[in-house]
Amino acid sequence: MKKGHDLKQWSKKEFTRRLVRWNQEQNDRAMPWKGERDPYRIWLSEIILQQTRVQQGWAYYQAFLRAFPDVRSLASAPDQAVFKLWEGLGYYTRCRNLIASARHIAFERDGRFPDTYAAIRALPGVGPYTAAAIASFAFNLPHAVVDGNVQRVLARVFGIREPADTASGKRLFNQWAQDLLDPVRPGAYNQAIMDFGATVCKPLAPACPTCPLRLHCVARRLDQVRELPVKRKVSAPRRRWIYYLVLEHGDRVWIRQRGAGDIWQGLFEFLPVETDREVSAEEVLSLARVRGLLPKGAAETPVWSPRITQQLSHQQITGRFLRVRFSRKPAKPGPGQWVSRDQLIHFPFPVFIRSYLKSPGIATPA
Ligand code: ADE
Repeated sequence: MKKGHDLKQWSKKEFTRRLVRWNQEQNDRAMPWKGERDPYRIWLSEIILQQTRVQQGWAYYQAFLRAFPDVRSLASAPDQAVFKLWEGLGYYTRCRNLIASARHIAFERDGRFPDTYAAIRALPGVGPYTAAAIASFAFNLPHAVVDGNVQRVLARVFGIREPADTASGKRLFNQWAQDLLDPVRPGAYNQAIMDFGATVCKPLAPACPTCPLRLHCVARRLDQVRELPVKRKVSAPRRRWIYYLVLEHGDRVWIRQRGAGDIWQGLFEFLPVETDREVSAEEVLSLARVRGLLPKGAAETPVWSPRITQQLSHQQITGRFLRVRFSRKPAKPGPGQWVSRDQLIHFPFPVFIRSYLKSPGIATPA
């Protein structure tokens, strides 16, 4: 056997051994889903954590468990109640998938959570990472989790220079991760490497001086901790402008549900005029007229809100709200409903709209 090969084998085993020991002796990261064995609870936590930080996800996880302690209660809830609880977490496709999976498990599998990797992976909204997390935490199945945290740890410790966001890079990191997995306790190992990436081998300020792997870490030896992992150039986020017409009549406002094919699908909103550049209030009104969104008979000059911006991972949305008052009830501008302002709290809105509703002068409970 070649020498280099021996060294690799040794250091892989050593990596796993040291990581497991760090987990037992030093890892004090407390999280409510840690050590959990109930697949429903694990699945719920993993869906929440897909695009949400632990700190934010924590309270949502607990609120969901209070409202829906098991898969049947979640499956039986009306969509709107689930969306309302999800409000503020963003990436609402996750919420739709949550509902679809819960109903599938409750009504087509008689409440039995799938217990193989393939069947878990087949649930809507469950990708390889989430499937590996659930399979290993709930059923101790030997599937390694691989996300940005894990890739960072492996890139640094083993000096892997391939960018992880190419097809071949992904395969390479997956192979490393699977080789390193502790086959006896894959669940504990997976949680350990996640925690290690989040608390020790952090993106910007890694705790190298006290790291239990520092003597083996290639990046540290070569002083390349900042350069690893290697990233390909990312494209600039897409910019969108959404101008909302808030039609008002008495104490009521017009809202509608957002249709398919968008990040906010299923949530409620005012009447949107979307553009690919910043436009004036007059342009918004004329676009709204052309698009049949503005009924005849506005009573007063519209009131224009300040700009609101929301930064998402792949897009930046900027928008303003235009209050248009009607003294007589206007014709319906398409599907939707009149809702009194104090009822708005019961509808799930994107954070973008919620922040407008919370702003001073809008006088809406939020
Ligand atoms: N991110 C995704 N799953 C996680 C988990 N189980 N613990 C901490 N962060 C996570």
